[in-house]
Amino acid sequence: MTLNAPDTTGPSTHDAEDDARNRDILIYVNGALKHRDAAMVSVYDSGFMLGDGMWEGMRLYDGIWAFFDDHMDRFFDSCHAVSLDVGMDRQGIAEALRMTAEANGMTTDVHCRLMLTRGIKSKPFQHPGLSRQGPTLVIIMEHSKPADRLQSAGIRLASVPQVRGLPHSQDAKFNSHSKLNCVIACLQAEQAGADEALMLDPHGFVNTTNACNFFIVRKGAVWTSTGDYCMNGVTRQKVIDLCRANGIAIFEKNFSLYEAYSADEAFLTGTFGAQTPVATIDGRAIGEGARPVMARIRDLYKAAIADDITAQKTR
Ligand SMILES: Cc1ncc(COP(=O)(O)O)c(C=O)c1O
Repeated sequence: MTLNAPDTTGPSTHDAEDDARNRDILIYVNGALKHRDAAMVSVYDSGFMLGDGMWEGMRLYDGIWAFFDDHMDRFFDSCHAVSLDVGMDRQGIAEALRMTAEANGMTTDVHCRLMLTRGIKSKPFQHPGLSRQGPTLVIIMEHSKPADRLQSAGIRLASVPQVRGLPHSQDAKFNSHSKLNCVIACLQAEQAGADEALMLDPHGFVNTTNACNFFIVRKGAVWTSTGDYCMNGVTRQKVIDLCRANGIAIFEKNFSLYEAYSADEAFLTGTFGAQTPVATIDGRAIGEGARPVMARIRDLYKAAIADDITAQKTR
């Protein structure tokens, strides 16, 4: 398969409309902008060798990164927690993002993956002290519009044996390069004939999916997990805040598959797809097709992005 081969994988929450412009994007690698075919990191890179790095997914609207401060808070907190020196402040990151967007002529409908690793190691072993040359910063930006079919068809989830871990193993709050736990869960879902995995916490309560946060709606109230075992998504928090601000009952609580199976609606959240409906869980249809609560939240979220972009522009 070549780097530019069409995507032939099954449906996922990250399905985007094909865009031929992505064949020739420029990628930021430690300050240089390289054609995607020439953008490389060393085989000694800590990210390649160990998954030792942190990343953020962000979206560009009219030249502005939505919820930039929230993303930077998580990114810098995560790097700080694992003693990974970013090597620049958030203004430096903003400048690297600006450079990359400008070089690609991108202003809107753009998804970015900002990745920072502990950099090139002097030997192929684990000790972080072997990463002595400073971090590796890579920014991939693609023209990206979530595929419309996801909103009509919805995602099929399968509950899987792979669970979210306790925070004292590898805290699920880290948006780390190493996503093996999530990848294993996704493989299990795929083997069960589903699109994405619904993962439980160590106590058996419903937690999150392998790539998004998970919500259900029961009798007009919105439920999501406590947040103790999942990536605390920026979109997840926005949905919680928007429910609170708009009189929609919202609970962060423990619940089991029992309540998920009989929910009136279920949906996923993430920067890429905003809110994506869930069609089935373990083959059981969720609700009866209408999704009024998710639709309202989607509208509120769209408006919140517009407000954030306006506020950043007038800052
Ligand atoms: C495991 C997992 N959960 C949830 C999310 C969604 O987070 P956000 O809303 O910040 O995009 C992501 C995205 O990075 C993720 O990898």
